[in-house]
Amino acid sequence: MTSWLTRKLQNLTTGSGEPSSGYSEVINDLQREFNVSSEKLREIADGLKCEMRKGLEQTGQTVAMVPSYVTGRPDGKEQGRYLALDLGGTNLRVCEVHLSGDGKVSMKQQKYTISQELQTGPVRDLFDYMATCIDKYVTEHSSMETRELPATKLGFTFSFPVLQTALDRGTLIHWTKGFNCSGVEGKDIVELLRDALSRKNVPVEVLALVNDTVGTLISQGYKDPNTLLGVILGTGTNGAYFEKISNIKKLTNTSLNPDDTMVINMEWGAFDNERRVLPVTMFDNKLDRKSVNPRKQTFEKLVSGMYLGEISRNVILHLIDRNILFDGYSSADLNKMWSFETGYMSIIENDKSADLTETQHILENTLSLPKTSLEERRIVKKIVELVGTRAARLAAAAFVGVTEHCNSVEKGCSIGIDGSLYHHYPGFRERVRAAMRELLGEKAENIKLTEASDGSGIGAAIIACLANKA
Ligand code: GLC
Repeated sequence: MTSWLTRKLQNLTTGSGEPSSGYSEVINDLQREFNVSSEKLREIADGLKCEMRKGLEQTGQTVAMVPSYVTGRPDGKEQGRYLALDLGGTNLRVCEVHLSGDGKVSMKQQKYTISQELQTGPVRDLFDYMATCIDKYVTEHSSMETRELPATKLGFTFSFPVLQTALDRGTLIHWTKGFNCSGVEGKDIVELLRDALSRKNVPVEVLALVNDTVGTLISQGYKDPNTLLGVILGTGTNGAYFEKISNIKKLTNTSLNPDDTMVINMEWGAFDNERRVLPVTMFDNKLDRKSVNPRKQTFEKLVSGMYLGEISRNVILHLIDRNILFDGYSSADLNKMWSFETGYMSIIENDKSADLTETQHILENTLSLPKTSLEERRIVKKIVELVGTRAARLAAAAFVGVTEHCNSVEKGCSIGIDGSLYHHYPGFRERVRAAMRELLGEKAENIKLTEASDGSGIGAAIIACLANKA
C-alpha cells in the first residue's frame, strides 16, 4: 500500500531527490502550530514578569516564587567536607564535596537509580531508600583512602516545589516530573529524611534543604559573582535568582535586613497553568491528560527533557493516523507512552547523513517500525526540530523575563545553566541565543550563558557549610 504522502511525493519530488511542495504542505501545518513568533516571545516574557510580581506578593500563586532562606552570597572562604543528597531527576546522587577555602571545590559522587515503584509508592519507602544510599556511600565511598572520617553534615537538594519556612524546614507543595509518592501531605521534608536516617542509624546531620536551581545559582555565583540566575534544563525546568528582601512582600519575618538579598526558587515550571499565553497544541494536551499531574507544570511540559520526546511521539502518531507516515502503521514499541525518548531527539538532530541513517536506526531498529522512506525520516527529523526549537525559544523568553525583572539587561549578568537538555541537546543553546537576540537585540550580548555542571550538589554543600557556621 502506498501512503498519501508517498504518492504525493512521488509526483512532486524533484530530480535531485529533494522533496518539494508535498513535503512542505505537511510540514507547514506543523510549523504553524509549533512556531513561537518574536511577538509571542515578548508576550511570554512579559507574562512571566507579571506572574513573578504576583508570586512575590502572596503565597499560593501559580509561579510560587518560594523564598529559599539562603541570604547573601558565599565568598569562597567556605571550608570543609560536606555531603549532598540530590533527589529530583531520574537518579539519586550522593555527593561528597570538598571546599578548600580558596574558592576551589572538588567532588566525588555516586549515583543510585530510583525505581518507578519508589517514585510513586509510599514516601516512607523513598526516604528509607535514600537513608540506605547515604549509609552505603559513607561506608563504601567516603574519603577513607585519605584516612579522613566520613563527612557527616549534609545539604539536601530536593528538586520539587517546597514551601520553605526556614533553611532546614519546608513542606511539599506538590510533586512534579514523574514523582507522585503518597503520605507526604503536610509533612516536613527535612523531618522525613531525619526520621529515615535515625531509623537506619545513619549518623548524618541534615543542615539545609535546597532546590536544585538554588544550588546551581550558589555554586555558579561562587565562581562568577556576576551570576544572577541559576537554571535547570533537564528532566524538569526551573530558575532561581537573587531578589532584594524588601521586594519579597509576602515575607513576614521582620528580623531580615530588607536591603539584603535572598535567593528565590521561582518554580517557573508552573508558569501559565491558566494557559493564557503559552502556545499549547493538541499534542501537548494529549501528553498532559496522561501525565501524573494534569493541568500542572504547563511551561515545564513544553520545555523540559522529560516531555519533549513524548510530544514528538504524539505528533508522529498523529501523522501515522492521518496515513501520512509509515503507511498508517505504528509499532507496538512506538505505541508505548514515553517510548520516543528525548535522547533520540538529540541523535536525530545530530544526524547529518544524506540518508538519515541514525534516524533510520532509531525508527526501524529501536522502535521496530517497518521500513521507512527517506522522506518519512525527513519528516520525523523536522518534527523533532520543531519540538526542540519551541522548547529553546520558550526557555529564552523565561531568561529574558527574569533578567528584565531584575533590571540586569543594561548592566549585564550571567546565567548558570545545568541539566542534560542544555548540556547534550544539539543546537539548544544557539536557539536560546537566537531567541534572546530577537527579544533584546544587541543587548542580548550583555547576558552571558554559562554551563554550571554539577551545580546542584556543590551548591547544597556550600549552603550546608554556611548553615554550619551560622
Ligand atoms: C521541577 C521542580 C523544581 C525543579 C525542576 C528542575 O520543575 O518542581 O523544583 O527545580 O523540576 O529539576
